[in-house]
Amino acid sequence: MSLENAVAIVTGGAMGIGFAIAEDLAARGAAVVIADQSDAHAGAQKLVANGHRAVGVKTDVTSKADIEAMVSIAQKEFGRIDILVNNAGIYSTLQPKPFEQIDVAEFRRIMDVNVMGVFLCCRAVVPVFEQQGAGRIINISSGVAFKGNPLMAHYVASKGAVVSLTRALATELGPRGILVNSVAPGFTLSDGVERNPALVAGVKEPSLRNRVIGRSMTPADLVGAVAFFASADAAFITGQTLVVDGGAYF
Ligand code: NAI
Repeated sequence: MSLENAVAIVTGGAMGIGFAIAEDLAARGAAVVIADQSDAHAGAQKLVANGHRAVGVKTDVTSKADIEAMVSIAQKEFGRIDILVNNAGIYSTLQPKPFEQIDVAEFRRIMDVNVMGVFLCCRAVVPVFEQQGAGRIINISSGVAFKGNPLMAHYVASKGAVVSLTRALATELGPRGILVNSVAPGFTLSDGVERNPALVAGVKEPSLRNRVIGRSMTPADLVGAVAFFASADAAFITGQTLVVDGGAYF
């Protein structure tokens, strides 16, 4: 699945799953814009050091102004945009807690980054895709959208919204040549997860060790699914969510 000459934006691409996606798209030939609120430049530098084309742009996905500036830098730097991966999301600062203890501000914050962030990035990039007559959007949801994990109702709700937003945008944007799909990872040992012992402990037995495949999931396990949705092989696929969780939820 070559992505030679494609240009991809990866939000939250400085570390964890996002960086793995950025690295994989770059290895397949794409120029990559890492749009992250922290370490965007450092992330891009790592790709450049390995001979790839990449630029980092400090971007908070809840800020319309940041996103618009990032999109115009992407166009200026690489001349076009072909792929938008909406990966930025928060959960790692969360402590697992019963829904009665989740306060309104916390719920709003999760929805703001995980859902509004996706909406705002799509709003900013779709006009570019329309001008070019084609584009791919890949949203990172989560297996919990289908399973409904306990003790993180706001996060689960936000990832369910990403699945629905994917379907809604697919129906609107298909006629304009823009395909919208989603990848829903299972519990993945990413930088954010490793930094949150409470989160790791809270989910340890059911899903840290995948019982079907017999090992934990890493970011490398899901990058191929993102590349597939970005590739010519997926030219007639839209509105779909591919759960990549090693069969953990069956
Ligand atoms: P992580 O915490 O390791 O990395 C997240 C990245 O997003 C960081 O670079 C961070 O700076 C960036 N970010 C956070 N808020 C941002 C904002 N407002 N604007 C721009 N960038 C922002 O996270 P991880 O584990 O790599 O997760 C990535 C995505 O995958 C998230 O959407 C997460 O919800 C989703 N996911 C993660 C799973 C896991 O078990 N790790 C499972 C299923 C889905």
